[in-house]
Amino acid sequence: MEVLGIDIGGSGIKGAIVDTQRGKFVTERQRIATPQPATPESVAKVVAQISDHFSWSASIGCTFPAVVKHGVTLTAANVDDKWIGADAQALLEARTGNRVLVLNDADAAGIAEMRFGAGRDRRGMVIILTLGTGVGSSLFIDGRLAPNTEFGHLIIRGKDAEWRTSDRARQEKGYSWKAWGKRLSEHLQYMEALMTPDLFIIGGGVSKKYERFFPHIKCGAEIAPAQLRNRAGIVGAAIAAAGLL
Ligand code: BGC
Repeated sequence: MEVLGIDIGGSGIKGAIVDTQRGKFVTERQRIATPQPATPESVAKVVAQISDHFSWSASIGCTFPAVVKHGVTLTAANVDDKWIGADAQALLEARTGNRVLVLNDADAAGIAEMRFGAGRDRRGMVIILTLGTGVGSSLFIDGRLAPNTEFGHLIIRGKDAEWRTSDRARQEKGYSWKAWGKRLSEHLQYMEALMTPDLFIIGGGVSKKYERFFPHIKCGAEIAPAQLRNRAGIVGAAIAAAGLL
């Protein structure tokens, strides 16, 4: 099945048509800079532009970097506060004229990794962490998603964990790979104490440099780099929409 997957991020809104059986793009990826301020109306306009670019008139799967329940965005850690309580699904459906499934960005990335990447065929408990502007998480038990976990916001050493372990924190605070790896270790160890997962998958753009920081991570569970990297959100959103719409 072919579904349009769209990934809404802090700096870019990206879309491609995905072959959901193979987890592959069947078109080039289209990227438009996220408008600032990234209000529901301005973002919806860009999503519609992407849908129009592909002359799309079928289901769309769309990620959002916040908690999303029944199409409503409930938090806004790194996006405009106007999204809190917004009916994102209704808005995007109205602007694109298509049916839209909206889901959390890390949940989408996790769905793609479990189907086509580092989590393929893995049973037991798998936690995917995406390290970017924020820290997203997704949790799978025997391949089934428990949506909207927010392990990026655990409190570690009195601080929101994503202020220490996001890739943005690494860059803005100038942490060395070793110093950042140590902070990531604490984050993983804390989750391990709470959840005892079988596998951690580390995603986000920085995961392509995993060889730089994996040697500094100490935790009991197995840990693997994500494989789909910046395709994961789009592919996962498309898979979710193919299954649910
Ligand atoms: C948000 C999550 C999101 C993550 C990655 C966090 O700040 O709370 O919902 O998945 O950033 O974008």
